[in-house]
Amino acid sequence: MSKVIGILAGSLRKESFSKKIAKAITSMAPEGFEFKIIPLDDLPVYNQDFDDENRVPDSYVAFRNAVRAVDGVIFVTPEYNRSIPGVLKNALDIGSRPYGSSVWNGKPAAVFSNSPGNLSAFGANHHLRQSLVFLNMPTMQQPEVYIAQVKELFDESGTLKSGETKDFLQKAVNAYIAWFTKVI
Ligand SMILES: Cc1cc2nc3c(=O)[nH]c(=O)nc-3n(C[C@H](O)[C@H](O)[C@H](O)COP(=O)(O)O)c2cc1C
Repeated sequence: MSKVIGILAGSLRKESFSKKIAKAITSMAPEGFEFKIIPLDDLPVYNQDFDDENRVPDSYVAFRNAVRAVDGVIFVTPEYNRSIPGVLKNALDIGSRPYGSSVWNGKPAAVFSNSPGNLSAFGANHHLRQSLVFLNMPTMQQPEVYIAQVKELFDESGTLKSGETKDFLQKAVNAYIAWFTKVI
């Protein structure tokens, strides 16, 4: 049976470059693996009362089940104010609760960060890694994936153009799969 890797993009924007990278990655899965985008669009801001008072939103249930069903996770994150966007932190928080039932626990992860400028969301990449330590998600160390000048990488239809960055993303995916196979 195929191993399934969840791809989470940390943006809600229709034309999000992170979503476009996430989509491009789904076609890079090797044989024996399926890459599946897990959307974050319908998740209300986490409120612990939802869990404590047993009135959990349907979208939380669906999201938690979707993450529970995958074997690993690739996060594609932009940077907001030198950290991860709230939507991605919110998703991490939702999946981490109720206490003791985190859906993230033990799933091997990778962090792919991107920005329209040259810094490639370095700050977001490493803030995300801090949460992944606590969530007990072993995270690929190398290659580090920092995608700069992301606007230049897509054609008018939103497809990732051929070139160095596409080749690098494929190499990073291959490295993740090789590492995943060792740690799982
Ligand atoms: C609230 C906000 C904060 C931002 N902060 C940063 C930042 O710290 N570093 C950066 O490189 N870009 C920053 N940007 C620009 C984003 O990188 C850019 O909007 C990017 O396209 C967002 O990702 P997306 O295309 O996946 O939606 C910020 C954008 C917003 C809306």
